[in-house]
Amino acid sequence: MLLKCINCSYTYDIDKIIYLCEKCNDLLEVVYDLDKIGNKLDSTWKNIPLSVWKYQPLLPIDTNIDRVTLSEGGTRLHRLNKFSSFINIKNLYVKNEGDNPTGSFKDRGMSITVTKAKSLGASIIACASTGNTSASLAAYGARGGMKRIVLIPTGKVAYGKLSQAMVCGAKVIQIESNFDKCLEVIMELSANFPDIYLVNSINPFRIEGQKTLAFEIIDQLGHVPDCIIVPIGNAGNISAIWKGMREFLELGLIDKLPRMIGVQAEGSSPVVSAFKAKKMEATKILKPDTIATAIRIGAPASSKKALRAIYDSKGYAERVSDKEILEGQMNLAKLEGIFVEPASASPIAALKKLIRKGIISSDDEVVCIATGNGLKDPDVVTNFLKKPLEVKADLTSIKNVIDDEME
Ligand code: F0G
Repeated sequence: MLLKCINCSYTYDIDKIIYLCEKCNDLLEVVYDLDKIGNKLDSTWKNIPLSVWKYQPLLPIDTNIDRVTLSEGGTRLHRLNKFSSFINIKNLYVKNEGDNPTGSFKDRGMSITVTKAKSLGASIIACASTGNTSASLAAYGARGGMKRIVLIPTGKVAYGKLSQAMVCGAKVIQIESNFDKCLEVIMELSANFPDIYLVNSINPFRIEGQKTLAFEIIDQLGHVPDCIIVPIGNAGNISAIWKGMREFLELGLIDKLPRMIGVQAEGSSPVVSAFKAKKMEATKILKPDTIATAIRIGAPASSKKALRAIYDSKGYAERVSDKEILEGQMNLAKLEGIFVEPASASPIAALKKLIRKGIISSDDEVVCIATGNGLKDPDVVTNFLKKPLEVKADLTSIKNVIDDEME
């Protein structure tokens, strides 16, 4: 098992604390000797209940290492019945990552990365975040008994996420800038102070935990879907899901790959722009903006990996407006009872457009990744909803209101 640069293929020891290639400054990934792993995967492994750690043979953590875990993964895959006929897709699913311990997919990678950090003797973990990574870092850092630092942008960070980070004892520092600057600063900080271990998704161990999302989808469906639609922010998650799929294919556990479709918000869509221009790398947007604050990112750190996932899978990238995001979020909740946060609704919001453009057909089996729980950021939707009616506490007044509402 090694760390390998995705550009120059230079390799590093798996225990070296390093986030970017020392030769060419590009992204790193964990590579395995898959032949050896294949021999370890006997049939009993298939019957272990779903969780991130079910896939230990394909994770970069030895069995003898103490895990920092809150029982992450094993999230529900919901078949959408009403919403699928509304949108005219026969086989439509939502993988609800809001089921994770801190309410987002980040917990998958955080468990692996904090476990790795601890095993390497790190005592301080740190990240830049639009909210969810900070909540996850704070919880897993508490569990692992480590100091924890998070940098968040000023302005619209969802209070649900911020309060999680604060309650779980992270030192939360708000930087007078956006997420992209926060990431730049935290990378410099960890480069200058090696005792600060960086857990943003440029850390390849994060991707390793997150790739279990792919394994679970295959386990839950019993096969590979035609398309997986993922919101893109810093671009780690789509890269992770694709890596997981490729590893299962190489191991002979599946015989086809899904098309990976990435979705960004209109005001924050550098990866979509790169895709439409057939480029391999995204160009930074200076002032990203969207109500989906989780993905308000102008310079996604893993854009190269994400674009490779999209091109190699013959996938697609699409942008959606804030209005479409809100509509998608409301429809998913109203028709299926699944309340997700705005960024997480972007795949659902993109469906109509993707069908209209012929990117997906009504016969395709489609899995949308709902990355985070709606309770993380309730203000966005409640601002658009009618306030509850106030009435006197007598039956006639209440019945009148019920009758009016039913009309
Ligand atoms: N959805 C949610 C709810 C997120 O919090 C994020 C990223 C994404 C999607 C995008 O995933 O970055 O892997 O492409 N949130 C990060 C954070 C940036 O700091 O919490 P990605």
